[in-house]
Order: sequence, then structure tokens, then C-alpha cells
Amino acid sequence: MGNARRFAMIPGPKPLPIVGNSWRFAIGQKPWRTKSLDATLWRLRELAGTGGAAKVAKLFGHPDLVFPFSADETEKIYRREDSLPHRAVAPCLRHYKQELRKDFFGDEPGLIGVHGMPWSKFRSKVSKALAAPEAARSSVPCLDYVAEDFVKKMDRMLDENRELPKDYLTELYKWALESVGAWALGTRLGCLNNDDEAAREIINSIHGFFHSVPELELSAPLWRLYSTPAYKTYVNALDSFRALCLKRLTDKGICANIAKSSGEKVATILALDLLLVGVDTTAAAAASTIYLLAKNERVQMKLQTELDNNLPVGRVMHSKDLDQMPYLRACLKEALRIKPVILGNGRCIQSDTVISGYEVPKGSHVVFPHYIMSNEERYFPSPQEFIPERWLRGQSIDTTDSNAATVCKRQKEKGIHPFASLPFGFGRRMCIGKRFAEAELHILLAKIFHKYQVSWRHSELTYSVTPTYIPNEPLQFTLKQRHKGNNPAFN
Ligand code: HEM
Repeated sequence: MGNARRFAMIPGPKPLPIVGNSWRFAIGQKPWRTKSLDATLWRLRELAGTGGAAKVAKLFGHPDLVFPFSADETEKIYRREDSLPHRAVAPCLRHYKQELRKDFFGDEPGLIGVHGMPWSKFRSKVSKALAAPEAARSSVPCLDYVAEDFVKKMDRMLDENRELPKDYLTELYKWALESVGAWALGTRLGCLNNDDEAAREIINSIHGFFHSVPELELSAPLWRLYSTPAYKTYVNALDSFRALCLKRLTDKGICANIAKSSGEKVATILALDLLLVGVDTTAAAAASTIYLLAKNERVQMKLQTELDNNLPVGRVMHSKDLDQMPYLRACLKEALRIKPVILGNGRCIQSDTVISGYEVPKGSHVVFPHYIMSNEERYFPSPQEFIPERWLRGQSIDTTDSNAATVCKRQKEKGIHPFASLPFGFGRRMCIGKRFAEAELHILLAKIFHKYQVSWRHSELTYSVTPTYIPNEPLQFTLKQRHKGNNPAFN
């Protein structure tokens, strides 16, 4: 602490008397706009300069935010994290669980929006069943069925130009919800079937939920003063998700195991959390990975060669099949590096500390802006280029693309800092669904790119934070069926 510079010296936008920095976000001019947090982070990066950190101080009802733009510093902070890491997000979920529906959640409110001992107790009850490699591996066959149905549905969605519909992102939400349902609840929810009345209700709740979250989480918290329309939609959606989890808990799936060991209530609350954070995240990751592959013919062709050699035909997929597809795994890693679903992960600092040489008082919020670090030249040469080979150890890149080969060589010389791209967070509070999400995405991507040549005929997508990082424009990919003799996988 002795040699550290004072907190006040951390650069950042200058707060005005009384209104602090909140006015910037209230006016919403770029880069100070919640929807454009990507631009906000780049601006803060500029302000941080060589000092390595920036801050946004004096926000109404919010502790000061500190942004360390360094993978080394990120590593240090994560590694000295105490046993109860505090991730200060989802105030409206905290309100729902611990105020509005306290009667139901009681002292076991789950993982999301929960801190301290209640979080730790709950996480230790569910951690083994969820995060163990076997939990995701055993889910592969059931996820295969869901992905298979979804890819068949994609065929029916195509218009006369073989383009996917404007609301393809919504279709991806349905696939993700159906997948989480199959894994967690051990049942098919019917989201891929538009004619199913119960499924329509779930889909309407999903729409309601995802449309209200950005307004509640990222704008001024007016819902604390009165029941805004977004707040009402949000509460109705959560109530119906909760009812769904209670009704659809079966004797199969991950939550059934939890019900046996910790009771039905814990299992229901866990199912609700998994549905809440396990749908928009994987849908956004699928959207960005398909987009990056569609724009990159070289990578897509190389992936298809791997799929042609390893994807089982005429039988359901198993985790061992996925083990044979390192290039597929590298494609997802590279997509999550360029377009992470969550731009920055946060922690509330539990004791006074030093970050990037500055004093940071207890109670400040540190935001690890891994979207910036994973898109910076100093960590990833030619960061905007989609080159999955960066992630493959000991594999030489084909020399047909000399630029990709050069970038890859530079990346190999530099190495990859393990804290420069952390799309799933780190430590005791890291994403508990990581392995499941990866398996789910690998299976879907494998099926899509095995069956189709995917291309992108529109202008470059732009992105917004809502609060996941998703494209603004419709995802009208063009699909051309690949031909390969009488292979049944193509029928
Ligand atoms: C590509 C998809 C996904 C991404 C990028 C992602 C990312 C994240 C991140 C960054 C965190 C915070 C980690 C931290 O604080 O260190 C998180 C937490 C969490 N994720 Fe994911 N996630 C994804 C998919 C899923 C899925 C599919 C599920 C469940 C089905 C899930 C369940 C959770 C839960 C329950 C937490 C809270 C953990 C806790 O606080 O103890 N995630 N995720």
C-alpha cells in the first residue's frame, strides 16, 4: 500500500458536482451508453493508457467501478480472491428472490444474484453434480437429439433464397432452452414445436424475460420506485419459469440427482437459475460462432473436413466423438475470444487492495474487461482475425493462407496468457455450466456445418449489450446443403 498511487489518481471520466458520472449514462451519448458498453470499455482503455487501469466513479446508487486492463493484474486479483467471491450483478433478480418471493426462496435462494454464505452453501450442494466433467459428458446423447431436431427445423425455416428468417436468433433461444430443459430437467419442453400450447407459453415468457432484463439491469432503476411495464413482464416471466420448473421436475436429468441428495426445493431453485442464465448465453455464443464461420471460408472448410472424418453417421453422438474434434473446439474458443458473450466479469473487493499500482478501497467493484484484453494486439496478434489455430498446440497451419500462417506463428512465439480471454470467468464462482455449454455448442455447430455450407451475404453485423453481447441485425444466414453421395446425414 505504501508505494501505491492514490485512488483519486486512477484516470476516468470526470464526475460533475452532485450528478457525478450518472448523467453520462442518463443522456446515453456514445461511448457512455449501456447498450454500447463495448465502446465504453474501449474509451476507458484509452483513458487508462500505460497506467493500466481506469475507473468510473460517482454513479448513483452504485460503488465506484475500477477496470484493470492487464491480464497479469487480472490473474493476481483472481488468485487472491477469498472463499466467498462477490459478483455484484442482477439486482432485480436479487430483489425477486430475496424480497418479492422470499416466502418461496427462503434461505436457499440459489446462485444467481446471491452472495456470502447462502451462495457458498448452495454452490457446494450442486457443484459436483453440475461442474464435474462427467455431468457434461453424459449429456451429449440427449443434446444430440435436440440439435438434430433443431437442424431439421432450420431446413423448414429457409425461404426461397435459402436464407434463414429474420428471427433466427429467437429460434436459437428456443434451441438453447430446449437443451437446458433436456439436461437439467430430463424432459423435452417442446420449444422447437410451435404448435404446442405449453411450449408457446414458455416461449412467450422467454421473450418477456429477455426483453425486460436490459431495461431493468442497465437503465436507471425506476422499477424500485413503481411497477414499470418491464418490471411487470419480468416478474410474470419469472413466476411462470418457477411454476414450469416445479411442474416439469422429473426423475431424470441433473436436477433429479440434486433432488435426491438435497431435496426438491433446492433442485427447483437450481433449475430456475440454469434456465435463467443458460439460454441467452449459449444462443448468443452460437450466433457469433456461426457468423464468424460463415464469413471465413478457409476455417469453415477445415472444420468440415474434421467433421466429415469424425462425426458419427447413423447413430447418436457420444462425448468420445467430440474428443476427436480439436478444430471444432478451437473454433468456439476463437469466437468467444473475438465476441465474448459477457464483456466483463465483476467482483466486489472485500478488503483494501492495490490494483495496477493504485490504492483501491474495500467495497469498490472491479470489472475485468476481458473483451478488451482478448481483442488487443499485445495479447492476440491481428486480434480481429478469426484464426482458431492459435489455440491448437503443436499443429502447424496449412500454408494456403500465408497471412493466417504468419499470425499463428506470431501467436505461438508470444504464447497465450491464460487470463487474457476468460469468457466463463474464473475461480470458485466461475460459470458452473461451462462444460455443459461447450458440449451443447459443439454438438450444434458440428451438425450445422456438417450438413450445410453457411454463408453471409449481408453487411457486417453490429453488436449491442443486452446484457449479453448480441448482433443488432437479423441473422439471415444462407444455407447450401453439402452433397456427399448417399450419406444419410445429409437427408
Ligand atoms: C457460452 C455460454 C456461457 C457463457 C459465456 C457463460 C459465462 C458465464 C460467466 C462469465 C459467469 C460468471 C463467472 C464468474 O463470476 O467468474 C457465469 C456464471 C454462471 N453460469 Fe454461465 N455462461 C454460459 C453458459 C451457461 C450455461 C449453459 C449455464 C447453465 C445451464 C450457465 C450457468 C451459470 C451459473 C449458474 C452461473 C453462476 C455461478 C455462481 O455464481 O456460482 N452458464 N457464466
